[in-house]
Amino acid sequence: MLSRIKEYALKHNVPIITDAGLLFLKEAILTYQVKDVLEIGTAVGYSALAMASYGCMVDTFERDEEMIGNALKHFDMYDDKKLITLIPFDALTYNKELRSYDLIFIDAAKAQYERFFEKYVKYLKEDGIVICDNLSFHNLTPDKVNRHTRQLLRKIDTFKNYLTMHPDFNTTFFNVGDGMSISQRKLK
Ligand SMILES: C[S@@+](CC[C@H](N)C(=O)[O-])C[C@H]1O[C@@H](n2cnc3c(N)ncnc32)[C@H](O)[C@@H]1O
Repeated sequence: MLSRIKEYALKHNVPIITDAGLLFLKEAILTYQVKDVLEIGTAVGYSALAMASYGCMVDTFERDEEMIGNALKHFDMYDDKKLITLIPFDALTYNKELRSYDLIFIDAAKAQYERFFEKYVKYLKEDGIVICDNLSFHNLTPDKVNRHTRQLLRKIDTFKNYLTMHPDFNTTFFNVGDGMSISQRKLK
């Protein structure tokens, strides 16, 4: 159903969730009975539309003008658009209040994952989950990449460590798609 958007993304080199990642996301949505989603990183709307097609109400952040235009165009092609609210702002500087969510899906600038987590976790319902994508970064290793990518890999590692050591969350990492995690609040 969303194959046209997937084709568009592939053709224009827009990074979107992998098929395996999307299946994983769908299973998590069903398992945790997710209704309300906050997504950070809309791109051209592929994952937002997919989650809406599973019955979720999705608020989704995108800061890039061109992506915003394309995402809105794509949303218009589907009835599920009524379930999606695009927030056309940088998630790091956005300063309005949001509602609360069963799922926060972080799929944006990799170097900023800890900041996204810290900023938005207050909107997570008590029994909600945080899913992060791109934690394996194409399985690149530090010895085979340039300096910039090496720094990014280090940041991703630091973030994974941050999740692992988090006093309030239990996190499981999954070798699926481009590396995903699910974090859930620890029981008090
Ligand atoms: C990997 S793509 C998202 C893919 C999308 N979730 C999907 O699977 O269809 C990441 C997107 O996050 C956006 N982004 C990165 N940092 C952001 C920020 N601070 N605020 C809002 N959007 C951001 C980028 O412009 C890019 O379009």
